Amino acid sequence: MARTKITVIGAGNVGATTAQRLAEKDFADVVLVDIVEGMPQGKALDIMQSGPVYGYDSKVIGTNGYDETEGSDIIVITSGMPRKPGMSRDDLLKVNAGIVKEVTEKSVAKSPNAIIIVVSNPLDAMTYVAYKTSKFEKNRVMGMAGILDSARFRTFISMELDVSVENINAFVLGGHGDTMVPSTKYTTVAGIPVEDLIPKDRLDAIVERTRKGGGEIVSLLKTGSAYYAPSAAVVEMVESIVFDKKKILPCAALCQGEYGIDNLFVGVPVKLGKNGVEQIIEFKLSEEEHAALMKSAAAVKELCDKVDEMGF
Ligand code: NAI
Ligand code: 2OP
Repeated sequence: MARTKITVIGAGNVGATTAQRLAEKDFADVVLVDIVEGMPQGKALDIMQSGPVYGYDSKVIGTNGYDETEGSDIIVITSGMPRKPGMSRDDLLKVNAGIVKEVTEKSVAKSPNAIIIVVSNPLDAMTYVAYKTSKFEKNRVMGMAGILDSARFRTFISMELDVSVENINAFVLGGHGDTMVPSTKYTTVAGIPVEDLIPKDRLDAIVERTRKGGGEIVSLLKTGSAYYAPSAAVVEMVESIVFDKKKILPCAALCQGEYGIDNLFVGVPVKLGKNGVEQIIEFKLSEEEHAALMKSAAAVKELCDKVDEMGF
């Protein structure tokens, strides 16, 4: 039986760590693609050479082209540029939309039946670009952000209460940016509503820290952004798809009426299985949370409109 094949585009921090985590899980072979000559090949060989010590047989191939990606089951897109001095947000939007468009075209030509997981920022708009470019059905294109943002929320709650992260269930909805919506109403600790366990002022501070979670890491690292938790989040999505686990996870999915959102990729709870996004789970948000989600969707729409205006 052929092993599952996963292509990871962009062999930078998130891409290479995703390839490493996947190889260590030993259920798939990985193709790592980047434009920098030698770099994906070197990282792939290094990950392969950890196999004898760590105990896995995953094949990891590094390449600057797409021939080796042929027949992939899943394509993870992490390629992109960080914002450089003098570059506006719109400049960055244009550069990354161009990169995501190019890598989507090249990869889906080789793997027309794949499921695409986008990681590149700005996440919700880049997922829209991959969707438009691939012309795939909506269930086969999604973005990773909600699991990461929820993991940050869960970590901060566990630090506050000094309990296991495994006891904490949380959902962060909306776009992957300052307007994201950490839902306190549906966040529980061993089934107990978090609002009953943490005083409002402390919970508000945790929500705010979660919203700025990515920026907190950037200001500590000084060069680059988070990649350990982001790659772990990608692997959770991949496993739910490959093993048809049907986990309910917050992911950027195309909403067509759900939550009152019209034709936008926004973070919502989805059921992830072998067909990708098998269902968007709708539940009743508080009035305040629903208003916050609408505001977040409006921020995503603004970026997607720009992407359209730029001709992507
Ligand atoms: P990085 O700079 O370490 O890696 C990006 C890689 O993309 C580089 O190696 C670069 O050579 C490659 N690349 C650029 N153009 C390419 C092309 N046309 N084809 C193939 N490869 C190309 O960045 P890092 O830290 O890995 O982050 C990657 C992206 O993911 C960024 O846009 C970042 O903002 C985003 N991100 C999103 C998260 C989320 O929650 N959705 C979390 C963390 C990062
Ligand atoms: C993060 O949230 C940079 O989007 C990335 O860490």
